Amino acid sequence: MRLLKTVVGLQCWREKQSGSIGLVPTMGALHAGHLSLIHRARRDNDVVVVSIFVNPLQFGPNEDLEAYPRTLDQDADLCAAAGVDGIFAPTALDLYGPNFRDKDALVTVLPPPGLANRLCGQYRPGHFNGVATVVTKLISLIRPRRSYFGQKDAQQLAIIRRLVQDLNLPGAIIGCPIVREANGLALSSRNQYLSEQERRQAAILYRGLSSAKHKFQTSGVRSQQSLVRTVFQHLETAPAIDPQYVELVHPHTLEPLAEIKTIGMLAVAAFVGTTRLIDNVVLRSRRPIIAIDGPAGAGKSTVARQLAHQLGLLYLDTGAMYRALTWYVLSQGCDPQDEVAVADLLPKCEIQLVATQSGTEPHPPEVFVNNIAVTQAIRTPEVTAQVSAVAAQGIVRQALVAQQMQYGQAGGVVADGRDIGTHVFPDAELKIFLTASVEERARRRQQDLASQQQPVPELIELAKAISERDHKDSTREISPLRQADDAIEVVTDALTVEKVLDKLLMLYHENVLAGDEAENE
Ligand code: PAF
Repeated sequence: MRLLKTVVGLQCWREKQSGSIGLVPTMGALHAGHLSLIHRARRDNDVVVVSIFVNPLQFGPNEDLEAYPRTLDQDADLCAAAGVDGIFAPTALDLYGPNFRDKDALVTVLPPPGLANRLCGQYRPGHFNGVATVVTKLISLIRPRRSYFGQKDAQQLAIIRRLVQDLNLPGAIIGCPIVREANGLALSSRNQYLSEQERRQAAILYRGLSSAKHKFQTSGVRSQQSLVRTVFQHLETAPAIDPQYVELVHPHTLEPLAEIKTIGMLAVAAFVGTTRLIDNVVLRSRRPIIAIDGPAGAGKSTVARQLAHQLGLLYLDTGAMYRALTWYVLSQGCDPQDEVAVADLLPKCEIQLVATQSGTEPHPPEVFVNNIAVTQAIRTPEVTAQVSAVAAQGIVRQALVAQQMQYGQAGGVVADGRDIGTHVFPDAELKIFLTASVEERARRRQQDLASQQQPVPELIELAKAISERDHKDSTREISPLRQADDAIEVVTDALTVEKVLDKLLMLYHENVLAGDEAENE
């Protein structure tokens, strides 16, 4: 691991790196929350850089810039143990250059007031200008493939997403779940300032948020007034807590909401003694969506079906939808290769998938076309022979993707395919890129063929065919196979289906249910 203390040193080191870089910007005093970002960055990228910089530009005149904990040696040990490749820890003068001495001479970045002046922005004027400026510098210097930020600083995350989008800064922004202590207190470097008694009272912030979330989930409470009141009622029970705000906003636009239609974020800021803490929960009126993409032969459909079964969600079998349409085209005596004829039939073909949750074994959903049960009929060799030709037609994909999105509105689905996380459900709560090496997939194919008593080609032949299919899938014009930036890659070589499933269930708990355990008071 390299400790890079200057911009020039960083630039020189950066030029020598190849592959994807994951950046975790921090102000040091690393805790388990930061480590969760580092672990995610390690999992997703070839190279991981952690920046450690207490940014003076984001502290107000009466804030804790001097007192902010600085623990570089300890942070470096934690980074080394977590497999970080480089720490960037410049001085303010080095990072900002000589104009840092005269604030009026320094170029800074101003996020839109609509995002920056709400919530914490009302109480910390200029704070988000400082954050936007330093993040712009870090991303411009490091040019990461992905940058990681915690959901605890939800306003910061929303501003950085907009910043990267509007200024075309490189890489994707990955928001990661809040990490909490056992009593629910969100981890923060500032928790160090709390006395034991204050630490206990600080947990009430989350208890208030959880109580509101509980009412939202179980009693359908949607209004800003009731949700905010519930949080305040909890805060009032702790004498050390002095609330600054409790607000209900949209998590991306930060617009205040009178009630939650689809999604809302309940955010709180409060002093606990002299320490200012923030926290939030996101409230969704739909159930989660899990998107599983990956190359052919990686075991997506088996895993997706079993995962849906275990979580009580609908397995949105997109393959079955294409088969259902193909069945319909054939049943109407139409040539599946005739794109115009297929386009004509599309509006007349209403496909419905219905989850079947009976028994302990996962079942594929029942498939209906215009209310006719076709679950068996879509698996015939005639349909199998024509489904690729139908699925390759642009208009067909468009129509079926629209239907898949429709299912997504109610949520509660696991879907697999090649463009689910990138195109169909870009807002899915959990995106998995399930893959395996070409050799592994060739071996599995051999086993499948052998178990079906079919001729088994040489491994090398199958591997060649799989590579060609991968190339075709990832370069085709319509819905190419691509890993979403925020998808978690799961390589299944040498893993049984049960092990893959365990891994996905763990990711579901970490990323979708994170923090929900302490929820039901
Ligand atoms: O969240 C933080 O620690 C800081 O605001 C950040 C993003 C590192 C910018 O200084």
